[in-house]
Amino acid sequence: MKVLLVGAGGRENAIAEALVKSGAKLYVVAKHVNPGIKRLAEDYGVAKETDVEKVLEFAKKWDVDLAFIGPEAPLEKGIVNLLEENGIPTVGPSREAAQLETNKAFARQIMEKYKIPGRKLFKVFDDVKEMESWIDEFGKPVVVKPLGLTGGKGVKVVGYQLKDNDEAKEYAKKLIEKDGKVLIEERTDGIEFTFQVFTDGKRVIPMPLAQDYPHAYDGDVGPITGGMGSYSCKDHLLPFITEEDYERALKTLEKTIEAMRKEGTPYKGILYGQFMLAKDEPKIIEFNARFGDPEAINVLPILETPLLEIAEGIVDGTLSKAKFQEKATVVKYIAPKGYPENPVRGVQIQVDEAKILESGAKIYYASIDENLTLLGSRALAIVGIAESIEEAERIASQGIKHVKGEIFYRRDVGTKESIEKRIKMMRELRGE
Ligand code: GLY
Repeated sequence: MKVLLVGAGGRENAIAEALVKSGAKLYVVAKHVNPGIKRLAEDYGVAKETDVEKVLEFAKKWDVDLAFIGPEAPLEKGIVNLLEENGIPTVGPSREAAQLETNKAFARQIMEKYKIPGRKLFKVFDDVKEMESWIDEFGKPVVVKPLGLTGGKGVKVVGYQLKDNDEAKEYAKKLIEKDGKVLIEERTDGIEFTFQVFTDGKRVIPMPLAQDYPHAYDGDVGPITGGMGSYSCKDHLLPFITEEDYERALKTLEKTIEAMRKEGTPYKGILYGQFMLAKDEPKIIEFNARFGDPEAINVLPILETPLLEIAEGIVDGTLSKAKFQEKATVVKYIAPKGYPENPVRGVQIQVDEAKILESGAKIYYASIDENLTLLGSRALAIVGIAESIEEAERIASQGIKHVKGEIFYRRDVGTKESIEKRIKMMRELRGE
């Protein structure tokens, strides 16, 4: 079967590998040539992923049977609608359904309308005075969110990127002036985790939980990035999550899929719940309409069920199972020095693939070209897969030694110390 993959980050390298492993002939359109994906592909077209007409042209030229969309930006442009109108079944939600990610007010309103668990108190404003008095009356710390996609850079939280509610009001005012609207939410304290599911619009099949490290530097400090690494556990849970928390979070995702169906905007593809495990329950911080990056790299290499079979189930409405190996995984992303604010670009790095593979680690390429020149975002991920997180972390750390150049990475992703810190924070929050 000929499968078109759109996108060329580390996430898409993992999708590409899983598709080819399950027998797909791979065709790729992306804005740069990813060396890891290129070697898996029959053919590769370079175009902006949001140029959906161009993507369609390539799809027709190659006469693909199925398409798989990696990133969110083309979903917002209606790539799934366009491909399907042209007879190409596509893994990913329609433009309307992708609003769960692309319109934060839509997601909150759906949760409210269908009384989905894991809701947060929120309000959408288009009037500066109303917004200011609401924040004053509320009195507790808030989160300010632009409604649309911002590549992870728009959300600001009081106590983190904003000093207090007065700064929140100033930032919210700017957003109303720029976008016409702003979303204000209560701040929820706790530990974030990633819950990804496959869905055909009816059935919801969970993947192992993962935890992302969004801050740039060790010790969870520095600017927010796309994610500097992530880990997952052998039992597919996380060390600070109870069975009850897991069931509640799964219920949130199942009820959301049910609500989307009832709304007449059925959702199919991958749904990623970014949760905050709060004192009382897991709450939705955001939905993403795609795999996480790096979290796709935790789950796809240990997927036992062929991804192509799952993809066909998603588009046919016959999704039935997804089985994963019981292994722990640690993903460490390598980024250019200065990322995310002032990344080094255009500089070559050295990647000794043979030595990395010898150390037992895996490599997934991302924002780097065929000459191993840094393109400005996360460049490649080194992954350890093992019986325990400690061992997986050790493997990833061994592998990463064989990448040299103007780069940096977080040493603490998946370390015992950093995981224990999270367990302790959760115990304190729950008063245990
Ligand atoms: N790792 C966060 C994301 O994929 O959105």
